[in-house]
Amino acid sequence: MKLKRSWAIFFSITGVLILIMLIALISVNFFKQTEAPVKTEREILEEKGIIYVDKENFTTEANTLLDKGYSATEINQIYEYMSDRNLDLILLEDYKDLSAFYEISNFDFSKIDRYLAYQSLENLEMSDAVTRVNLNLDKPFYSEVEEITDPESITVLVNKYHALPSDYVPSDLVTIPGTSLQIRQVALDDYQNLIAAATLDGLNLIPYSTYRSYDYQDSLYNYYLGRDPQSEVDTYSARPGHSEHQTGLAIDIRSSVLSDSLTDADYEWMQNNSYKYGFIIRYPKDGSTITGYMEEPWHIRYVGVEAATKIHESGLHFDEYYDLYLKTY
Ligand code: DAL
Ligand code: ZN
Repeated sequence: MKLKRSWAIFFSITGVLILIMLIALISVNFFKQTEAPVKTEREILEEKGIIYVDKENFTTEANTLLDKGYSATEINQIYEYMSDRNLDLILLEDYKDLSAFYEISNFDFSKIDRYLAYQSLENLEMSDAVTRVNLNLDKPFYSEVEEITDPESITVLVNKYHALPSDYVPSDLVTIPGTSLQIRQVALDDYQNLIAAATLDGLNLIPYSTYRSYDYQDSLYNYYLGRDPQSEVDTYSARPGHSEHQTGLAIDIRSSVLSDSLTDADYEWMQNNSYKYGFIIRYPKDGSTITGYMEEPWHIRYVGVEAATKIHESGLHFDEYYDLYLKTY
């Protein structure tokens, strides 16, 4: 009987021990299975619909944008379309609705309020508003003038907001054979080929004003001021430093039968052919809101064949072309 009892105690204790071990084993497994796996920052963003971009600081940046109120879709578009420079500004400033700007290559975030104001004021396509504001056309002509730093570039933009240094003289001026007029050497061959082609087609074109120094432009502009009110002079003469003639790349050309302009036939020929030789008609009809000048059929400007061809094909004014394709944003 005693033996039986000890066996019973032994089996009870063993049973309890086995039970305890079983419970321990089950609970360990249970917790193993339910313990949540640690998610990476990337996974957390991806769960929100943000497409991960493999760049340094992406998770910090994306979280900053989320905090500012940008949605996942907006963040994805920002990384798809915005330049690094714009992204830096977006990360610094408060939330802005960028939906109208993603696909505009020359968009500059720092000017967003000006774009919106000008677009609604002028009732323009947003892409045009962006280009025009970039050109400062929402501000008066001759305001916020910047001095040109690359005057020797054949695609230099000289206009009412971009001035050549007063002491700038092109380094390669040459005299056009048979005249006393100077242009830059870099444009001479193409210019002569242009005239040769026009002559072959029966035109008789004569250059009459080419390179003009800063001082000469100054005296010319002042001469006009003695004749007409400034508001009128500014529609046909550049202020000193603002004339393309100072670049040595602009040529005023006339028909042999006119004192200072082209016949309609000459002009049509020029419209159809000048680009092949790297020249553009710089102040065309209907361009005054962009150039600030009335139509000047006689004023051609050398920009090289590549730019002239693109301008011819696109119908853009040179100022617009410059902002869209030659400036980096
Ligand atoms: N007539 C052009 C605009 C000039 O003065 O350069
Ligand atoms: Zn001219």
